[in-house]
Amino acid sequence: MSDAIEITRAAADDDLTEISALQARTFTNPWSAESLRWELANTDVARLYIMREHGRIVRTVGYCACWVIFDELHINSLAVDPDERRRGLASQLLRAVHAEAVAAGATKATLEVRRSNEPALALYAHLGYAVEAVRKDYYEQPREDALVLWCRRLAAI
Ligand SMILES: CC(C)(COP(=O)(O)OP(=O)(O)OC[C@H]1O[C@@H](n2cnc3c(N)ncnc32)[C@H](O)[C@@H]1OP(=O)(O)O)[C@@H](O)C(=O)NCCC(=O)NCCS
Repeated sequence: MSDAIEITRAAADDDLTEISALQARTFTNPWSAESLRWELANTDVARLYIMREHGRIVRTVGYCACWVIFDELHINSLAVDPDERRRGLASQLLRAVHAEAVAAGATKATLEVRRSNEPALALYAHLGYAVEAVRKDYYEQPREDALVLWCRRLAAI
């Protein structure tokens, strides 16, 4: 794993533009930089993290959008650049997000994921999450069930 990885809270316009571009490379319904900006400005519980790698050039390699609501961390969106997967970057990013949420008082974490998303399900299992519920036909484009995952012992990860 590279020691040139930097994880920070995203806030600047450039951060939001880069996260939006990474979303567009990853999801069928990406968020715009403007909607990311609106959420950060209007949602007290919202946190947005950007992961960069410092090499010959500085590149955005991942992001995580979440809420910390009392003792719960809600992971709303997470992605790693398609060319940088299976390097442990999502694990590193989630561990950093978990640590900051624990410092803010969170004791458990939850998220929803498409039933067919095997890489994400493997990642979350690797980090101690387990499936606790199903939301039928929750997603569109394409329509698919969501699995609801919880990690009940966040501080232990
Ligand atoms: C899911 C995602 C974030 C994983 O990012 P990543 O940086 O490749 O994950 P890591 O390298 O930290 O993987 C950690 C572990 O998760 C599991 N895993 C990750 N990707 C996997 C894959 N494609 N197939 C099987 N297991 C996988 C493995 O156990 C892996 O450990 P290992 O490499 O030592 O075997 C990435 O594939 C992605 O951005 N996907 C598209 C967006 C997405 O699905 N986001 C989640 C929506 S809730």
